[in-house]
Amino acid sequence: MNFGVEDCLYVYPSDSIARWVNVSRPRASRGGFWFGKGFVVSEIADKAVLITGANRGIGRALVDEALHRGARRVYAGTRDRFTAPDERVVPVALDVTNRAQIHDAVGAVESLDVLINNAGIARYDDLNDPSVLERHLAVNLFGTHAVTRAFLPMLMRSSGAVVNNLSINALAPLPLIPAYSISKAAAFNLTMSLRAFLAPEGVRVHAVLTGPVDTDMTRELDIPKSTPRSVASAIFDALARDEQDIFPDPVSQSLARGWTSSPTKALERQFAELVAAAPMAHRSPTRSTP
Ligand SMILES: NC(=O)c1ccc[n+]([C@@H]2O[C@H](COP(=O)([O-])OP(=O)(O)OC[C@H]3O[C@@H](n4cnc5c(N)ncnc54)[C@H](OP(=O)(O)O)[C@@H]3O)[C@@H](O)[C@H]2O)c1
Repeated sequence: MNFGVEDCLYVYPSDSIARWVNVSRPRASRGGFWFGKGFVVSEIADKAVLITGANRGIGRALVDEALHRGARRVYAGTRDRFTAPDERVVPVALDVTNRAQIHDAVGAVESLDVLINNAGIARYDDLNDPSVLERHLAVNLFGTHAVTRAFLPMLMRSSGAVVNNLSINALAPLPLIPAYSISKAAAFNLTMSLRAFLAPEGVRVHAVLTGPVDTDMTRELDIPKSTPRSVASAIFDALARDEQDIFPDPVSQSLARGWTSSPTKALERQFAELVAAAPMAHRSPTRSTP
């Protein structure tokens, strides 16, 4: 049985989709747009960016790309010592599973426009060892959640953006790495809820549904991969276009059109409207201090 947009509208009858598009689509103007409570400049130039897992792979490429595009400040969150490649880079000790480090990191950041939750782990498993699943959730889901909550007040002040580097495995699990896939699916769901909660606050929340990239994470996979540099560049391009869900490489791009026009995406938008209508007390679980 096919489940189409019409069925969604039947289950959740409202003029929601058309209204959502009219109300929430950013109005373009002079390199930025109005969103939520404020005017957002969409380019990364002259902005402050924090990138987790910044020392290697995609995170390192994001650091270089942000600098290349004229970022004012790049906070490089790493677990180990990091040698800054540019005077605009500020190394920040940041294990995303470490509450004390997250707290200290907030103190080290002056202001923030874009938070990129990039840190992640992927281990082969067969779901027989619950501790493997727990470890993936600790980093890829709870780490992303904790860092986002900690920096939210700054992002609200700047009408900023959260960018969560997820994976196409959020949409379809790769059974070689099921625990990873579960954690990315959960982080995608988190991303969509945060997007709905934070839209009225003027903070945009983006999902990056990345395909295979040539980094340490995929070293053992003999498949075509994109370069970290091309992916980093595509992420910032998509951010400038304010794309909610970002497909930054050829493999993920093949899913983009289908996803954007899918009943699931339409349903996400319909459900997001319920947040706007909900009483304040039910809206903002992200706002209290961690
Ligand atoms: N490569 C791909 O094909 C691919 C595809 C889809 C999505 N992604 C996602 O892209 C992101 C970056 O992956 P990558 O390919 O660049 O992998 P990578 O080369 O293995 O780098 C992973 C990064 O995450 C950091 N990290 C791991 N655990 C951390 C923790 N607890 N706290 C802080 N940082 C931590 C690592 O730091 P250390 O050096 O200290 O370990 C490293 O900087 C991940 O979220 C990954 O899931 C990658």
